[in-house]
Amino acid sequence: MESLQLHDTKTHDETRQGEAFAPFKLDDNQYKKHFYIESYGCAMNFADSEVVASILQNNGFGATLNIEQADLIFVNTCSIREKAELTVRKRLTEFRKLKKAKPGMLVGVLGCMAERLKEKFIQEEKLVDLVVGPDAYRTLPGLIEEAETGQKAVNVLLSRDETYADISPIRLNSNGVNAFVSIMRGCNNMCSFCVVPFTRGRERSRDAESIINECKDLFEQGYREVTLLGQNVDSYQDTNNENKTTSFAELLERVAQIDPLLRVRFSTSHPKDITDDVLFTIKKYDNICNYIHLPVQSGSTRMLQLMNRTYTREWYIAKVDRIKELLPDCGLSTDMITGFCTETEEDHQESLSLMEYCKYDLAYMYFYSERPGTLAARRFKDDIPEEVKKRRLQEMIDLHRIHSLQSMQKDVGKTFKVLIEGTSKKNENELYGRTDHNKVVIFPKEDFKKGEYVTVKINSCTAGTLFGTPSAP
Ligand code: SAM
Ligand code: SF4
Ligand code: F3S
Repeated sequence: MESLQLHDTKTHDETRQGEAFAPFKLDDNQYKKHFYIESYGCAMNFADSEVVASILQNNGFGATLNIEQADLIFVNTCSIREKAELTVRKRLTEFRKLKKAKPGMLVGVLGCMAERLKEKFIQEEKLVDLVVGPDAYRTLPGLIEEAETGQKAVNVLLSRDETYADISPIRLNSNGVNAFVSIMRGCNNMCSFCVVPFTRGRERSRDAESIINECKDLFEQGYREVTLLGQNVDSYQDTNNENKTTSFAELLERVAQIDPLLRVRFSTSHPKDITDDVLFTIKKYDNICNYIHLPVQSGSTRMLQLMNRTYTREWYIAKVDRIKELLPDCGLSTDMITGFCTETEEDHQESLSLMEYCKYDLAYMYFYSERPGTLAARRFKDDIPEEVKKRRLQEMIDLHRIHSLQSMQKDVGKTFKVLIEGTSKKNENELYGRTDHNKVVIFPKEDFKKGEYVTVKINSCTAGTLFGTPSAP
């Protein structure tokens, strides 16, 4: 197993695999052509697919879920680990077969793999017709025209200022309650294992007004939760307005002020950058979720240094202590990597003991996958045998399972304000929603509706779900 997620959550920065978007309007004849889009990777990539859909729809293309109906197939790809890329390649070869059966159909590769493997895609005959990097989506309509002439259409230029601020994403796969809002792009950190700075380019912040307006629009349309997205949200800094710069804490406050009924989440926080200002802002507003995704990657200072994370184990622990001091009830989640270059059993034990200290509510755990071109690939040998990586990962997963179950059990007997997201898949007489801590709660439907808040008393739990009954607030 490469990774584990215990709660079903779409609001974190975990990577997701191959979800096709349900269209905004199915089979609408007003469109000259139809596109099908399948997305992989992190929440930012899924948010990008909504930008792509908006650009395409404004240029006369309608979304479809029916791949047979599609004139254009897009795969928005992820390069974070080798396995993610292998999955996409397999999918592209399946699409090649479809193309043979339907001449004229175009296949485009978007996102991080397009950026990382541009030359390879250009050289490979007939696998894809379009290769478009994450900063080049505005040029898609022109590229489609070019590809229609039989040439391979390519644009993988990275930009220093593209944020797609003026584009209203089309909420394709939406439950009408939760939405992702990108607040920045790229990453200026150079974690030695990570491919993102190479596939997404330099960090840039989106203008605050456009973010506030997007969130206001979402609220007016009935959405009740926004997740502000960036690879490192704490370094958000809007300098577009000459008279006033806006920090992440200020942005968070402005989004929270839109309406007390709008829940606000954010991801991802880098331990080195999260500030007391952000913590005080969370404390000040009930509608900012008491929950922080604070990836640590390893519990060993030696590993953290090789990873270029720029903090030590002690520094991270002090940060967690500070969070718990200011926000005693704050939920905490993390990302962990096992088997990074030269990792010893002692280093691994330090990761386990850090997990024991933090008792994360949720953890995304991966074994190290060397990415060509990264600092680690250039400087260090990927020297931990796969079976050792996997065994260490399993030990982490087993430990986290205990913490996750304890975290759920702690909630039994308590009451929570739950934002209703829809009808339970298993029982149509039940609804599901989430707590402030992002835990899924199932409860009887009664007269409640999607998008409403309900107070639920928790009666029981599994490792992934809380079960309860509505009660008086
Ligand atoms: N920007 C976020 C951060 O700094 O934590 C998340 C970046 S990445 C999209 C999500 C997670 O993938 C990382 O936190 C890390 O745990 C994992 N990851 C990144 N590169 C990896 C690699 N080469 N092998 C295994 N896991 C990796
Ligand atoms: Fe990758 Fe590090 Fe940037 Fe996160 S902060 S995207 S792990 S380089
Ligand atoms: Fe995200 Fe994967 Fe790219 S995690 S930024 S889609 S490499």
